[in-house]
Formats: sequence, structure tokens, C-alpha cells
Amino acid sequence: MSAKETPRAAALRLLEAVLGEGRMLSEETLDGLSPGDRARAQRLAVDTLRHLDKADYVLEPYLKKAPPLRAMNVLRLATVELCSGGEAHGVVNDAVNLVGASKRGQVLKGMVNAVLRRVAGEGQERWDTAPGARLPAWLRQPLLASWGTPAVRAMEARFEEVPSLDLTAKGDAAALAQALAGDLLPTGTVRLAAGAQVSALAGFAEGAFWVQDAAAALPARLLAAQPGERVLDLCAAPGGKTMQLAASGAQVVALDLSQRRMTRLRDNLARVGLTAELVVGDALDHQGRYDAILLDAPCSATGTLRRHPDLPYVRDAAAVTELVELQARMLDHALGLLGPGGRLVYCTCSLLPQEGEAQVQAALARHADLRVEAVELAGVPEAWRTEEGGIRTRPDYWPDQGGMDGFYMARLTRAGGALPL
Ligand SMILES: C[S@@+](CC[C@H](N)C(=O)[O-])C[C@H]1O[C@@H](n2cnc3c(N)ncnc32)[C@H](O)[C@@H]1O
Repeated sequence: MSAKETPRAAALRLLEAVLGEGRMLSEETLDGLSPGDRARAQRLAVDTLRHLDKADYVLEPYLKKAPPLRAMNVLRLATVELCSGGEAHGVVNDAVNLVGASKRGQVLKGMVNAVLRRVAGEGQERWDTAPGARLPAWLRQPLLASWGTPAVRAMEARFEEVPSLDLTAKGDAAALAQALAGDLLPTGTVRLAAGAQVSALAGFAEGAFWVQDAAAALPARLLAAQPGERVLDLCAAPGGKTMQLAASGAQVVALDLSQRRMTRLRDNLARVGLTAELVVGDALDHQGRYDAILLDAPCSATGTLRRHPDLPYVRDAAAVTELVELQARMLDHALGLLGPGGRLVYCTCSLLPQEGEAQVQAALARHADLRVEAVELAGVPEAWRTEEGGIRTRPDYWPDQGGMDGFYMARLTRAGGALPL
């Protein structure tokens, strides 16, 4: 990586990491760029991934055969910019230079130039009338089987949009909504239009709020930690839910396997002035007794595709099978850490029922004394209640309010109450 890397060159590198090497955007570094250029590179890459189908549709008539992946990614990046109002001369010139930067790309400069000039001239109409994006088959097929075609189409439409900025207030949510001219959603989240710069918002430095999707804020509310209770947040980093639990006045132990992510959690807690006992370790090794446990298990994260359009190109069905096994082991271990009368919220930011509804149904079958507590949650309609008593959110819900991430959550307790200590 060179210190002189331009935002477009960095965006191309990000695209290659995702589409060529199957790595998540969050794993890539943009260290040589200024904060402004870093944000621009990130935005260009995310926009391109979000509109990959549309870009390929616009390009298709101009390509006699598929070019090598690097050249194709240069074309995609430039097409998304051109069709989103980018200045043609600069976009096309940079694209030609990018493809020519590699020895093998020299011979492709003419083709890239010719194709992009046509896109600049006549691509907009095709862009505006492109069919809706489709998820890759490994994900689309199970989603179709679970939710049906109209719901999957509606979710796919949501995945093409830039999501709103959702905030959880440390204190009074209505006051925060008023101060930031945001919307107070029925579940207590404050919603701002997409594009706001978080660190520039009034109250950020003072720790008055943290960024958290409206759906992601529900599991901690379902657990309803009480002041003085001993609460375990078992997969805690980067800590959105830990902050909610700590804000309730509970004594929180926050555990995560990742040292790097725990550093972010520590920074987040410090900014908002909340405390928790931090443990870096494997959830499966942790011992103790708790009044309440939140298990936000590692999962496919398919519910967060609006914010992470790289995911469908990085994950696959085999990875999900491994995660489902890990989730079951974590859930069983966590149930063993509940004190007498304790409760546990199991949740995942997945759209796949095998990581949600089916996971809890299987746990109910494994543990005869396990029950789901179908408690009401402010702002959550009965329609989101699942058969076994959990709550399901999907990106196509709240269509008029800007949608939400896909999540599953259920509050569990042991029928006998006390477990032997
Ligand atoms: C869904 S994320 C947690 C998000 C977090 N609860 C929040 O609200 O910000 C899942 C977390 O599980 C952690 N993890 C994965 N395997 C683990 C294990 N065996 N033990 C503990 N944590 C684990 C990952 O490092 C990741 O931070």
C-alpha cells in the first residue's frame, strides 16, 4: 500500500479484498489515507457493493466477454459513481489509470475507456430502470424457503438503500430526539437521516448516546436488567448492548473472545461514562452465577446486510453450519451459568431461522425445564412474536419509518427456578 493511494484506488483495493479474496471490509486497513479520504474510499466501496447487480446490468451490453476481475471491479466502481452523479471526465480518467496501473491491465485501458464513455453517455437510463438486486443463491434460497418471495424481494429492496442512523440514548430518549431533531421510534430508539456525521452530533463527546440499530437495541430491553443485579454479557464486543445493561444500574460482566474488539468496548464505555467488569476469554470456559445473561451469539450477521453489503460475498452456507453448532454449545453453557430464577436472552442478528427460532426450539427440546417468557416489549407489535414466544425483526418491517436490521431474540428461564449451585 502506498502513502499516495487515492480514495478510488483504495476503494478498488477494498473491492478486491471482498470480491477477489473473500475478506470483510472491516478486516482491511486504510492507514495511509487522511480521515476524509478514508471515509470516501469506504463509501465508494460500500456503494459499489450495494449496487453491484445494477452496475453489472448497466455494463452488460458493452462487454463482449467478462474482463478479468480487477478490470471488472474498476468498471463497477466507475459505473456506480457515474450513475450516482459523478463527474464523467474525472471518473473515467481515474478508472483508465487504475486499470493501467498493473502490467496486465495496460492492454485493457482502451476497453475501459470506451465502455465507460458509453456508460457516461447513456448508462443512466439503464441504471434507473434496472431490475432489483438479488442476493447470492446460498443466502437467497434459505430466505425464500423461510419468508417467501414477496418478503425476500422487499428485503432485497431495503439492502439497496442507505440505512438511517439509529441512536440509543444513555438517558431520556425523548429529550435526545428533540435535541437532535430526530424521530423517536416506538421502541425508544432515536432515528436520524442517513449521512449524519456521528462524532459531530451534539452530545457525542459527552457520551449522551451511542450508535445502535433499532432492532439491535431490543435484546437488552427484553432482558430488562435491574439495578444491582449481576448480569453477564457473554459475547459483548464492541459493546452496544453492554452499554444498555450498564446504563440500567446492573453490575455487568462483559466477556468477549476478541482482545481487539474488547479494546473498542473499553473505549465505548469510557466515552459514555459507564462501567463494567471486562473479561477477554472464551464464553465456553467462563464460570459463575448470574441473575441475568445476554447471549448475543456469533452468527451469519445476515440481518445487518443494509449496513454490511460485503457479507453475502464473504460468508457461505458452510460457515453458517459451523456457527449453528457453536451457538447451541454456547446456549447450553450459558444456561448452566444462570442462578436461581435467572433469565437469559438468546439473540442473533441473523435472518436465518436456524440461528434463531430453530435454535431456541432445539434448546427447548434438549432441556425439559426450559421455558420461553413471551413478555411484552414497548413498541413491539404482536405480529413480530414467533411461534415459540421469541421476537423476530426483519429489514422489511417498518417500511415507512426506514426499516431495521434483522434480529431474533427470546427470553428463556428454567421452569423449576432454582438451579443447584
Ligand atoms: C454479534 S457479536 C457481539 C455484538 C455485541 N453484543 C454488541 O452488541 O456490540 C458476537 C461476538 O462474539 C464474539 N465471540 C465469538 N466467539 C466467541 C467465544 N467463543 N467466546 C466469546 N466471544 C466470542 C466475537 O468476538 C463477537 O464480538
